Amino acid sequence: MIPAPSGPTVRPRRLRATPALRRLVAETRLHPADLVLPVFVREGAAEPVPISSMPGVVQHTTESLKQAVTDAAAAGIGGIMLFGVPEHKDAVGSGATDPDGILNVATRIAVAEAGDALVVQTDLCLDEFTDHGHCGVLDGRGAVDNDATLERYRDMGLAQAEAGSQLLGLSGMMDGQVAAVRDALDGAGHASVPLLGYAAKYASAFYGPFREAVQSSLEGDRRTYQLDPANRREGAREIDLDVSEGADIVMVKPAMSYLDVLADAAASSPVPVWAYQVSGEYAMIEAAAAQGWIDRRRAIEESVLGIRRAGADAVLTYWATELAGWLR
Ligand code: PBG
Repeated sequence: MIPAPSGPTVRPRRLRATPALRRLVAETRLHPADLVLPVFVREGAAEPVPISSMPGVVQHTTESLKQAVTDAAAAGIGGIMLFGVPEHKDAVGSGATDPDGILNVATRIAVAEAGDALVVQTDLCLDEFTDHGHCGVLDGRGAVDNDATLERYRDMGLAQAEAGSQLLGLSGMMDGQVAAVRDALDGAGHASVPLLGYAAKYASAFYGPFREAVQSSLEGDRRTYQLDPANRREGAREIDLDVSEGADIVMVKPAMSYLDVLADAAASSPVPVWAYQVSGEYAMIEAAAAQGWIDRRRAIEESVLGIRRAGADAVLTYWATELAGWLR
């Protein structure tokens, strides 16, 4: 007679028994090359300015930017994404298209500093540069004018390409923005400059600390152009649209509350899919860790791993350089 089994025959715990086994069967790995660091550069600043809602993150001076680039390159991360904080803002965001505007100046500095070590990328959106804080220009009734904004994006794209940006991140959520900027670049000898379309960017509360970081004067919200957090299918549609307009990479943003949208995009997109772990996601983990409520390093690693597991090929995160240091 065969003896009755003394317990389960299927035992998933076998492969969890030792660190070496766990490492060998890990399905997802973090690597410095898959991380991108967002960097703020403030015009006219004499010293780096701390951002109170993002402990550990600063508005760089053009001088301290160089060190940030060097540190990022030494850590082996894949790239940096530059945001400009201009001294003067106006209705059309003139600073964005000025070759001597802070973002374009910072781009030239970062490109010179980075060499071949990482990819220097730029945020292509007007909100940092407009006095009303919207991502586009306004019409006579104060609404964001989609097609007039596309004209500004075309010029902004040209200014960024001329400054040497190696990947333009279109984050404004205007309809047709990828096609418009692609057309402008192709017509001006910049056909080889790639575009990152912030395809599925949601109107999120998690951008809160970023508003301090770029000293945004926005009143109201961006719900007429960014996606409704309720909508998953609409995220997939925006991904498809950006791909069809010629996006070389597409983005889902924020990350942690939109992992379903990210998984959909990863399954359907023919181009790389990135995710942006935004300022509020950073602030939440930093704040809880500062209280001693969660283990900071484990929470950071787990959060970025989860975003990768859901399907992101690369992750924009304010911890990029520090996290890469732990991974070495
Ligand atoms: C728009 C832009 C925003 C962020 C990146 N690009 C703000 C917004 O859309 O309101 C937010 C990033 C973050 O919160 O970390 N240029």
